[in-house]
Amino acid sequence: MKGLKIVATGRYAPRRVVTNEDLSQIVDTSDEWISARTGMKRRHFCEEQEGNLSNAVSAATKALEKANIDKAEIGAVVVATFSGDYFVPSTACLVQQKLELPDETICFDLNAACSGFMFGLQVVRGLLLQSEKPYALLIGSEVISRRLDMTDRGTCILFGDGAGAALLKLDENASYTSIMGSHGDETLIYVPNQEGVPHTVHMDGHATYKFAVQTVPKLIREVAEKAKLGLEEIDGFILHQANARIIDAVARNLGLPKSKFFVNIEEYGNTSAASVAIALDDALEQGWCKPGQKILLAGFGAGKTWGAAILDV
Ligand code: COA
Repeated sequence: MKGLKIVATGRYAPRRVVTNEDLSQIVDTSDEWISARTGMKRRHFCEEQEGNLSNAVSAATKALEKANIDKAEIGAVVVATFSGDYFVPSTACLVQQKLELPDETICFDLNAACSGFMFGLQVVRGLLLQSEKPYALLIGSEVISRRLDMTDRGTCILFGDGAGAALLKLDENASYTSIMGSHGDETLIYVPNQEGVPHTVHMDGHATYKFAVQTVPKLIREVAEKAKLGLEEIDGFILHQANARIIDAVARNLGLPKSKFFVNIEEYGNTSAASVAIALDDALEQGWCKPGQKILLAGFGAGKTWGAAILDV
């Protein structure tokens, strides 16, 4: 069975940087509290003229510049997001327009919250297996700053805006082993869409933390077993950047050194569906992971949803 090859990646974060110190001017919090409890130092928020589409297009453009392919060879654009500029049209259709991709390109958005990029990999692989074109563009893009209650210190400090993109193709020599799942839930994290109710992020922090530290180690063990790999044979782990303490707890549970886990939460905060894609591009750019290595990507979040994949970067 053909695996998924990551041809090129890109990322974009809006220029406006919001530090922990900035947030302490808005709500009763402090740099010490946020750093110690989450590992976050900064996050990026969109300015008025920016949005989900401009983030997505910037990240995709960077990936395409590195790939140097004929854009007409892209058969699908999938954007993982819960914070599109419109309910309809999808961000993906507008990315197609901006990038001037051909009419036969399949374009749609996918909402699986913080597992969005992982579910996107699974969906894109399915699309490519049926496509006459070799490439697909998978983008995770979020503008969560517009979904935050800036009076709720329990949530407003955690999230940021940004996008990550990956140009993908099927490859006989590339591997891809995945496990995805959901356990329907509307209590952990939700953004209401009812009249008269603000469309802001609500979260039970403790329950979400517990869900993550129970689910992710089990998920990683299961996907490694499915790939017939020992954990020590996996070169690096790039998890959804929700909280540095969650990543530490996962490493501890698996008996792996923290150095095996990429962390860039300090710079971006939690960017939901964009987070794994942003971290992947950052890790490749820094040389933290190198072409040819086996990397495990994992996401988890609202829904409840989870997904992990082992592939060659
Ligand atoms: N600044 C200062 N104090 C804060 C605060 C903030 N931003 N937010 C909460 N507090 C206070 C609480 O009010 C509480 O005060 P109290 O003891 O007087 O009642 C105290 O800090 C401890 O709060 P608690 O909720 O127990 O903190 P915590 O250690 O659980 O950390 C989270 C809170 C949100 C960082 C943590 O629960 C978490 O990361 N959960 C998972 C979030 C997540 O991953 N979401 C996305 C998943 S995709």
